[in-house]
Amino acid sequence: MQSLSQFLTERGVDPQLQPLLQALAQCGVEISQLVRRGALAGVLGATETENVQGETQKKLDVIANDLIKQRLAAEPSVKAMASEEEDHTVDAHADGHYLVSFDPLDGSSNIDINSLVGTIFSVLPASDRKGEAAFMQPGINQVAACYVLYGPATVLALTTGEGTSLFSLDPDTGEFLLVEDAMTIPAETNEFAINASNQRFWQPAMQSYIADLLAGDTGPRGKNFNMRWIAAMVGDVHRVLCRGGIFTYPTDTKNPAKPYKLRLMYEANPMAMLVEQAGGSASTGYERILTLQPEAIHQRVAVILGSRDEVAACLGYHSQA
Ligand code: F6P
Repeated sequence: MQSLSQFLTERGVDPQLQPLLQALAQCGVEISQLVRRGALAGVLGATETENVQGETQKKLDVIANDLIKQRLAAEPSVKAMASEEEDHTVDAHADGHYLVSFDPLDGSSNIDINSLVGTIFSVLPASDRKGEAAFMQPGINQVAACYVLYGPATVLALTTGEGTSLFSLDPDTGEFLLVEDAMTIPAETNEFAINASNQRFWQPAMQSYIADLLAGDTGPRGKNFNMRWIAAMVGDVHRVLCRGGIFTYPTDTKNPAKPYKLRLMYEANPMAMLVEQAGGSASTGYERILTLQPEAIHQRVAVILGSRDEVAACLGYHSQA
């Protein structure tokens, strides 16, 4: 089986980028070890602090964030970092070629129930711009996107813009090995993922779309749909990459100050790149996610992604509205 390092060399990935991607994978290996030990490693439970988004930080959010920051600070190609758990961008090497945004522990409400969590990374090219301004690039500029999912197996999905590949961690050697190249999301699906408890807060377009899915073969779609919700984007997107589906966290009015839940720079953009590179689509309902011009590192956005034909069907309800 091909290791991640052999894969990167054989694919001719930019030699500057290769050690950085290896460093991201190594972060995944170390966080995976902590997740596996759980209570035995003393990493479960919450801290008394809140992040910039006003969310209570879990111990593992903080530990994973510190671990990634430390490892990337030692990587000469990293110019700066942006993290869900940091109020501001963090500078690394002034002559570094890349900017890395990350969600150190996605789905952290799952930590204490021994359910799926993951880490998401987005890599952008550096420029002469400094601080937060340097990160204000649309997702199409990403040179790599990657997530590590800490499930029954630890897996890493990676794209450098030439398809999406899946690696599985060999716990005996600590190496990621290629298990699926050129992942392909089926264009059609009968599976959807949404937090249905927010239904009364959705916009009319999403209300109608989901109502028609629920009507199944008695409604206009003429077929039955099944629903799944892992409450960790990384887990839901992984399922979509493996067997298709549509995943959405749409606009809602639950908290008018926060009409969107997911973060653009370190959730929506990297996942959109991984999904598009596997033949799927990713939209806000009105625009392709990867072409959005960011305005802030912690900016939030509506997300509809997955099987191409199903995303197109959902967008049809939005254009009619
Ligand atoms: O980062 C936000 C997140 O944890 C996503 O990973 C996940 O899809 C979503 O929130 C879960 O939201 P909810 O708590 O509404 O189920």
